[in-house]
Amino acid sequence: MATSETVQENLALDFCQPIRPRVLLAASGSVAAIKFESLCRSFSEWAEVRAVATKASLHFVDGKSLPSDIILYTDDDEWSTWKKIGDEVLHIELRKWADMMVIAPLSANSLAKIAGGLCDNLLTCIVRAWDYSKPLFVAPAMNTFMWNNPFTNRHLETINQLGISLVPPITKRLACGDYGNGAMAEPSEINSTVRLACKRQPLNTNSSLVVPVSSIPPSS
Ligand SMILES: Cc1cc2nc3c(=O)[nH]c(=O)nc-3n(C[C@H](O)[C@H](O)[C@H](O)COP(=O)(O)O)c2cc1C
Repeated sequence: MATSETVQENLALDFCQPIRPRVLLAASGSVAAIKFESLCRSFSEWAEVRAVATKASLHFVDGKSLPSDIILYTDDDEWSTWKKIGDEVLHIELRKWADMMVIAPLSANSLAKIAGGLCDNLLTCIVRAWDYSKPLFVAPAMNTFMWNNPFTNRHLETINQLGISLVPPITKRLACGDYGNGAMAEPSEINSTVRLACKRQPLNTNSSLVVPVSSIPPSS
């Protein structure tokens, strides 16, 4: 039988367990979405992860390859989970659940839609409902011609004003064979950028027990 001392010890131990921030990871239809699995794995080392994928991204993301504890939500789930008035609405529930959101890769199309306030799929509905006191990171990925198009800067300026943080793309040989800027930052870079930002700015977590983010073990 547990004595009051062991109960106290267990409570103390429970309190020492770091509360994992809830990260909503989203992929849109850039070829860089082939790295989404790797991103999910690295984030799930320190966070509770749920995933969202646009219809186009599913050409590159294999949902079955994601860690088994990560639920992958798609546009179909928006409607299959809602039957009648009073049922939960998925994009609102995910927006409430998340402490932060990371869209990696962010396609030119989704960037434009977010900048314009459009919301015609699960990903953009979550962003349209987003609470900007919570961090939202984007890692754009597109061909250099698209990246250099004047629309990109306009859209980036708009989302910057909203408080969305940019993990800039890098210059390298792109999947299409062209060389130039526009490739998604490496998953390890996205993971460390987001994690560092969490450490600097303690999260307003949804969790009942708020533990300083400094208690999250440092990345290896
Ligand atoms: C093979 C292939 C690769 C693509 N790669 C990219 C890309 O890297 N970046 C991008 O912005 N769009 C890319 N696109 C175009 C997007 O998939 C398209 O704009 C789509 O509508 C994006 O939808 P989403 O933003 O809802 O995911 C690609 C399309 C194809 C067919």
